[in-house]
Amino acid sequence: MRPHVVAQLAVSIDGATTGFEADQARFYAMATLWQEDVTLVGADTILAQDSAVRTAPKPGPRPDGPLLAVVDSRHRVHNLDALRELGYWSDVLALYCDQTPARAPDSTTKELVTGYDRIDLAETLTLLGRQGAKVVRVDSGGTLIGALLDQELIDELALLIHPVVVGHGPYWHDFFTTPLDLSLANAETFHPGLTWLRYCIAGGPLEEGETVGGDG
Ligand SMILES: NC(=O)c1ccc[n+]([C@@H]2O[C@H](COP(=O)([O-])OP(=O)(O)OC[C@H]3O[C@@H](n4cnc5c(N)ncnc54)[C@H](OP(=O)(O)O)[C@@H]3O)[C@@H](O)[C@H]2O)c1
Repeated sequence: MRPHVVAQLAVSIDGATTGFEADQARFYAMATLWQEDVTLVGADTILAQDSAVRTAPKPGPRPDGPLLAVVDSRHRVHNLDALRELGYWSDVLALYCDQTPARAPDSTTKELVTGYDRIDLAETLTLLGRQGAKVVRVDSGGTLIGALLDQELIDELALLIHPVVVGHGPYWHDFFTTPLDLSLANAETFHPGLTWLRYCIAGGPLEEGETVGGDG
């Protein structure tokens, strides 16, 4: 069975995912709500943290932590061993496809191969579910979440909205072309001006001509 998939993002009022200082402490405190089995992260999110990972303390894997699964069809991520040591995750899993460039022959990183020239997100989630994952939390700047939303693979969306307007993207969603039908599950505010919104996804992106919140 497919796990429950939640996408969590820190965003500005205008929906930007970068270009402002996100409240990381609050973001990761809220992330503990789900006690996810798997943290699903895109390659670009990992690459953006490369220098921080290099200098971060490495206490070693956290046995009761979630599994870090990294979407990396093109094998651009080369610091999985360091990520495993950060003390957040129990282990790392590289998500590759058939056409992923060859890995080092002595690589000991666990991998899951799906899809031909890009990983098959639906199959990946099904296989993670078969391996016992009940909750997957997606930590992404928007690209990976967009692909998952397009394929109706996200059940819940949680936005930590910061009181700033960035004025440019990248945005967590393609607002102008892809409508979404969301159902509010919870709203909270936190000092200093943060808004926390949790939504259920009503049924994936709407078809052309279908009305948000209506029958179409
Ligand atoms: N505000 C926040 O909450 C937040 C959270 C995380 C990150 N960020 C920031 O966001 C930026 C990175 O985010 P991003 O949106 O550029 O990248 P991303 O979320 O890391 O997503 C890129 C990944 O998605 C994969 N992907 C995209 N479409 C796909 C599809 N159809 N099928 C399978 N895989 C697909 C790509 O595959 P390939 O393997 O083929 O490349 C790549 O691995 C960084 O600056 C980071 O700091 C912000």
